[in-house]
Parts: sequence; C-alpha cells; structure tokens
Amino acid sequence: MSPTPSVASALEHEAMLRALDIASQGPSTGANPQVGCVLINADGVIVSEGFHLGSGTPHAEVVALGSLRSAGIDPKGLTAVVTLEPCSHTGKTGPCCQALIEAGIERVVYCVSDPGPDSAGGAKVLSQAGVSVVGGVEQEAGEKLIERWLVSTRLQRPWVSLKWAMSLDGRSAATDGTSQWITGEKTRARVHLQRSDHDAIAVGTNTALVDNPSLTARQPDGTLYEHQPLAVVVGQRDIAGDALIRSHPGGFLQHHGHDLRELASELFGRGIRSLYIEGGPTLASAFVAENLVDEFHITMGSMLLGGPTMALGDIGVSTMDEAIHLDIRSVEHSDGDVWVIARPRNREV
Ligand SMILES: NC(=O)c1ccc[n+]([C@@H]2O[C@H](COP(=O)([O-])OP(=O)(O)OC[C@H]3O[C@@H](n4cnc5c(N)ncnc54)[C@H](OP(=O)(O)O)[C@@H]3O)[C@@H](O)[C@H]2O)c1
Repeated sequence: MSPTPSVASALEHEAMLRALDIASQGPSTGANPQVGCVLINADGVIVSEGFHLGSGTPHAEVVALGSLRSAGIDPKGLTAVVTLEPCSHTGKTGPCCQALIEAGIERVVYCVSDPGPDSAGGAKVLSQAGVSVVGGVEQEAGEKLIERWLVSTRLQRPWVSLKWAMSLDGRSAATDGTSQWITGEKTRARVHLQRSDHDAIAVGTNTALVDNPSLTARQPDGTLYEHQPLAVVVGQRDIAGDALIRSHPGGFLQHHGHDLRELASELFGRGIRSLYIEGGPTLASAFVAENLVDEFHITMGSMLLGGPTMALGDIGVSTMDEAIHLDIRSVEHSDGDVWVIARPRNREV
C-alpha cells in the first residue's frame, strides 16, 4: 500500500471548497461555528456530505457519516474533508474524532484548527489512531467564514460590532434628543438584517429610557426575522415594566453595571458569540475606550444636525498620539446614505 501524502491533493482542495460552501448553509449565529464535511473516495468523488445546524444538533462529520449509512454505504477507507478540525471532546454531542475512527475513515483533511480549550486536539487523537491527517487546507477561506466564532473563542468574549448612525457633521441626535431617522429606509433595513445576524444586541439605559426601542430584527414588510438576538440593556437605572424591549422575542437581559468586560464575559458564558452595539454615544464610547470593538459600522445620513450630541464622547483620547486608528474595509453609498465598515488597526486578536 502506498503511503498517504502529507499534503492535500487538488481533488481534496476542491472537496474542501464544497465543504466550505455547504458549511455556510448552517446558522451564522449561536454558540457553535458553521462547519461542513464531505466524504470522498479514493478517486476524489464525493459520496456523502453534511453540515452543522447549530448547538445541540449533530456535528457535520456525524451528519455526513449518517447519510452514508442510510444509503447503505460502508465509510471504511474514505477520506473526510472537514472545514474545522474534528472535535475531541464530549459536549452536547459525542466527539467527532471517535466517530471517524470507529467508521474506519482512513484520512482526514481539515481547514481550520479548533482553538477551543476543550474541543481542540482532534488532529492528534486521529493521528495516534493511525489516521492520516492534513490541516490548514484552504485555511484563509475557512477562517473568513467563521471569523467571528474564532475571535470569540480565542478571546473568550463575544465578537463586538459597533454600529451608529450620524449626520455628516458627526451628530447622533438632534439637540432635543430625537434621532429618528438620521439614515434612510435601505440603511435601516440593513441594520435590521445585521441585528438578526448577531446573538445579542445592546443599548445603554438612556437609549432604552428615551427612545423605548423594541430592538427587534424586522424584515422590510415588518415581519420578524426568524433569528432574534437577545436584547441587552446596560446600566444601573431600572427600565419600566412596560418598556417594549422587555418583551423582545429573543429574550431580555439587563446588566446592572458599567464593567463592559464583565458584561462580555457574562454574555460569553451564556453562549453569546456575537454582540451588536446600537448606542447611544455613551455606551458606544465606553466600548471603544475599553478596546472591545472588533468592527465598526458607521452609517451617515446626508444631513447636518449641529448641536452638542456627538456620535462619540470620551474614548480616552486626549492628544493626537493617542488617536485610535482604523483600517477602512469598505465605503458604500445607498440612497444618499454612506456606510463605512472599519476595524481598529490594533485589535486584541
Ligand atoms: N444615532 C444613533 O445611532 C443612536 C443610537 C442610539 C441612541 N441614540 C440617541 O442617543 C441618545 C442616548 O444616548 P446616551 O449617550 O445619552 O445614552 P446611552 O449610551 O444609551 O446610555 C448611557 C447610560 O448607560 C449607562 N452605562 C452603561 N455602561 C456604561 C459605561 N460603561 N459607561 C458609562 N455609562 C454606562 C449609564 O447609565 P446608568 O446610570 O443607568 O448606569 C449611562 O448614563 C438618545 O438621544 C438616542 O436617541 C442615537
């Protein structure tokens, strides 16, 4: 028998692209990452595939093996091409390494190493059981797909997206406190889509008290998106019993404090891997000052508001040397609004 190569073949690369494609059909929110798996034979032909549908459901490898068995095909001797290093631990489901070894899988080609403190180490377990293992295949694409989960797992806190709307002169509200609406319908529709693409959404107590927002993620026709984030209010003051946010379909939580790292760690403990901050300026500034923002979504409406309410207040910068530099990822125009996506140049990761 010829030895199995220690680098991935062109057919295995191709199979990995398919695995990444099906992985993206799984939910982008929740405690677990999107994972895809395809099983190929010695000719590189895909004989089965599966992807993960979220926490508590079978992992991609188990789904692919299951549908193969349902079709009456023996998995012995096949190669598993997986977008994430197979897990080695028993969480809500059993370890995938064991399932692959027991199925007689001869070779495992994976994309991204698992950074999870409990789930990592799968490649070693597989190698020790005599399975040929190759990692890092199409790694860049794989890391991009599950970037938020990877960052969250490494830092043990949710990925944080900070979004605000401002006038062209940098104001987030008029002098009387009103801020509806600075941007147009299309921009706001995209904000609702982003809400539904995060595990939690947060505002400060002032915004909750002044605006009484529902913070639901709604489609342009007003109906709710299937996924609703947990709605979080941060701050000490009590929110009225009949405040709209209290009946949020994704659940409601108030964090009675100002320690944002404590909040992040509490949310991580609840399985929250992505957090969308919607202001107001005081809470947004505190997240920036604490270096807790992974991505900025700055939306600008084509108007001037003047007055004292700036989009950000004290972010701990008093002189040019302390400026927080950003890398701009994109600038988009839509119906008179501008949407800038940027990331801090010196992120924690
Ligand atoms: N343009 C936009 O994108 C946008 C978005 C949202 C809101 N707004 C507007 O912004 C205004 C409200 O903004 P705001 O800045 O006054 O209030 P805010 O940021 O919504 O809430 C500020 C309050 O949050 C609490 N808090 C929680 N964590 C904190 C921390 N780490 N540091 C400091 N305070 C913390 C404090 O209240 P406690 O004393 O209760 O702890 C603080 O007074 C409204 O006019 C609203 O319409 C605009």
